[in-house]
Amino acid sequence: MKSRVLSGVQPSGNLHIGNYLGALANWVKIQYDYESIFCIVDLHAITVYQNPEELRAKVRELAGLFLASGIDPKQSRIVVQSTVPAHAELAWLLTCVTPMGWLERMTQFKAKSAAQESVGAGLFQYPVLMAADILLYQAGIVPVGEDQTQHLELARDIAQRFNSLYGETFVMPATSLPLVGARVMGLDDPTTKMSKSAQGAGHLVALLDPPDRIRKTIMRATTDSNPAVDFETMGPGVANLLAIFQAFAGWSSDQMRAHFTGLRYGDLKKQVGEMVVSKLDPIQQRFREITADHSYVDQVLRDGAEAVAPIANSTVQLVKQRMGVFTW
Ligand code: TYM
Repeated sequence: MKSRVLSGVQPSGNLHIGNYLGALANWVKIQYDYESIFCIVDLHAITVYQNPEELRAKVRELAGLFLASGIDPKQSRIVVQSTVPAHAELAWLLTCVTPMGWLERMTQFKAKSAAQESVGAGLFQYPVLMAADILLYQAGIVPVGEDQTQHLELARDIAQRFNSLYGETFVMPATSLPLVGARVMGLDDPTTKMSKSAQGAGHLVALLDPPDRIRKTIMRATTDSNPAVDFETMGPGVANLLAIFQAFAGWSSDQMRAHFTGLRYGDLKKQVGEMVVSKLDPIQQRFREITADHSYVDQVLRDGAEAVAPIANSTVQLVKQRMGVFTW
């Protein structure tokens, strides 16, 4: 049996080149080698307030972007988390074996809760739901960006704890990071991660940004006081622009050095801008075709949920039996 891959994206904010290079581009590459499930995690998104209409629209937009980026629905399943209730059910069962202290240590919880006036219990429990997404399908490989590595360690800890309490039940999921692009930084501030929820015009390049806006955002990116590219002394802003170029172009480090050493920052930015535009343009065209009407995307999502539900339900059934929760 092929090993299973699972990953997910929240349908909140605008999908950006960090999400693409950290996660999606990797999914597209590995989908043919594994049995793949890609989730649109709306139950994670509502851990902070979402406008209901916008949330519904974002789910379809995200599915369209998965498809336009090259996720092949004949090969992979695209699933809206809430349409398979077993995700929430397993999350509760796993909550009961997860010590509070493990959740209190999560850096994303600390950062996100600091930004909220009132912190919902769902935000605290967020990583358990994520562990449930993965363990529900006995996924062996989870392709994500670097910011998710702590959550994945927690998923393994929860799996291990469950296995030792109730007997071997879960496969241990391994984290798969891309070699380049695992942590794309904000273009306005290269010391912080590019983030969907960040405010400010120059922060991110969204996958659906028009070409002129992409060029403008990249031309305005923060660099450093050097005049030209020097691989030994460059600051984080230049390193970030080079990483973005390298990840999109698929160049080796030697190729990067040979091409960019000594290039003035203005020219560097022009080349990065053109590279990003040339890679996003075909995705945007496919997106427009795919989402011309809802029916195709909705069918893909229905098929996805139908295909994975039996796997999810049988895991929940097994977990309930192991825990002694009543089943027929
Ligand atoms: P989310 O929606 O924040 O991000 C989706 C994916 O994009 C990656 N990513 C980045 N990669 C590189 N540079 C960046 N600046 C950057 N920002 C985001 C993330 O690492 C992620 O892979 N908790 C998850 C969603 C989730 C999930 C799962 C993931 C729910 N269940 C199960 C894997 C498996 C999240 O909020 O991702």
